[in-house]
Amino acid sequence: MSEIVLQIDGKEVGAEEGMTLLEAARSAGIAIPTLCHHEKLEPYGGCRLCIVELESRGWTKLVVACIYPVENNLIVRTRSGKVDQIRKMILELLLAHAPDAIALQDLAKEYGADKDRFEKEASFCIHCGLCVRYCSEVKKKNAIGFVDRGTRREISFIPEIASKECWNCKECFPLCPTEALQAAFVLTKALISPPHPGPEPRG
Ligand code: SF4
Ligand code: FES
Repeated sequence: MSEIVLQIDGKEVGAEEGMTLLEAARSAGIAIPTLCHHEKLEPYGGCRLCIVELESRGWTKLVVACIYPVENNLIVRTRSGKVDQIRKMILELLLAHAPDAIALQDLAKEYGADKDRFEKEASFCIHCGLCVRYCSEVKKKNAIGFVDRGTRREISFIPEIASKECWNCKECFPLCPTEALQAAFVLTKALISPPHPGPEPRG
């Protein structure tokens, strides 16, 4: 039985204690865009794309739906001028890193984001952390991790683990919103594979 009742986009939604706004919205068929969320993983709140507007006692505030817990009588708007503007900006920043990512392009169309607004810094990885967290939390293998910090942060397979675990798994591949993961994997594979034998010495 639902313990909590809130309003999302004008619709009364029942939710259980401990659910997030994102889970409550999805259970009611209301879509909120996400880039770093996965139902099998701990809430992360990294990409901020799932931002929504809350109304409470005459005030509005912006919160991250994938980590914000449901409360009785909350009034939630998943789209508003402010929400759309922030999502547009986030997408423009991410598109500077991964301009060809289909998932980002589709969202950019919906939010009117300009993929050329910011100077390109193509790193292809948008740091959603899905691959790293999935490998750690679900597979318990830690075959992939983040290296470096700030703008130089990137994902990297750990060769010693990847050489044993990844070839027959690859469950993280479909989670990646860009091509970064596959590219990193190909690179790791090339580095780990024994070199191709050269031509036999003559004579
Ligand atoms: S490689 Fe892909 S899944 Fe992994 S953190 Fe980067 S964008 Fe996310
Ligand atoms: S999906 Fe909520 S912050 Fe990324």
